[in-house]
Amino acid sequence: MKRVTEDHQDYFFDSENANKYLNDAKNGSKVRYSNFLSALRKLDIKGKYLEIGCGPGVLTQIIAKQHPDAEIIANDISPEMIKLARQDLVEDLTSRVKYVIGDACDINSMKDLGKFDLIYSTFTLHHWDNAEVAIKNLHSMLNENGLLYIHDLKRVIGLYHIKSEHGFFKSIKASYKPGEIKVMLNNLGIKDYKIKAVFPYFMQSIVIRK
Ligand SMILES: C[S@@+](CC[C@H](N)C(=O)[O-])C[C@H]1O[C@@H](n2cnc3c(N)ncnc32)[C@H](O)[C@@H]1O
Repeated sequence: MKRVTEDHQDYFFDSENANKYLNDAKNGSKVRYSNFLSALRKLDIKGKYLEIGCGPGVLTQIIAKQHPDAEIIANDISPEMIKLARQDLVEDLTSRVKYVIGDACDINSMKDLGKFDLIYSTFTLHHWDNAEVAIKNLHSMLNENGLLYIHDLKRVIGLYHIKSEHGFFKSIKASYKPGEIKVMLNNLGIKDYKIKAVFPYFMQSIVIRK
């Protein structure tokens, strides 16, 4: 079950695709994000949050409302996504939410953002060009005792073999198995982590404590 990567940049840099993603994320936000949101609610982390690969910012705004004291910086590699996220941001949240262009795999594009109590990312790990470098970068941006929370698809056999050009099945093929994530964390010398199986069975969360 070899990992098959996606060509994400062409897709998310296109304005039409970015707009489509915004609509889909808004319409499907309950299904997409509810498990992640309830995990975050229970953790109740105070302070500064960094969201990586925020897309058009649908989740960012939900999190800002759910955590009214949090200050959130949200980044995305796609200028088109950041443009949409800025346009869509409601007035009430402009003092606490900032959108910036950045690449998780390039520390120079993020190093001026500072340190964070929570760094999170949903449905992006399988898009990162070099996931190990990205995790290293994000881990270095955590405050002491801060949390890196990555929520993404998992390469599972039942879905891997479905023959379909649909984006979801391509993303399943590009996603990681828990064992592959363990190897990356081991290479980075990160010891304080959990890889959680999440409902439904093709989802997983990687939770790393600094
Ligand atoms: C499937 S979308 C997920 C968007 C959002 N996190 C959500 O859950 O709705 C993946 C996003 O990751 C962004 N992305 C891909 N590689 C990235 C990287 N290296 N750094 C930052 N963002 C990245 C893409 O531009 C795209 O907006």
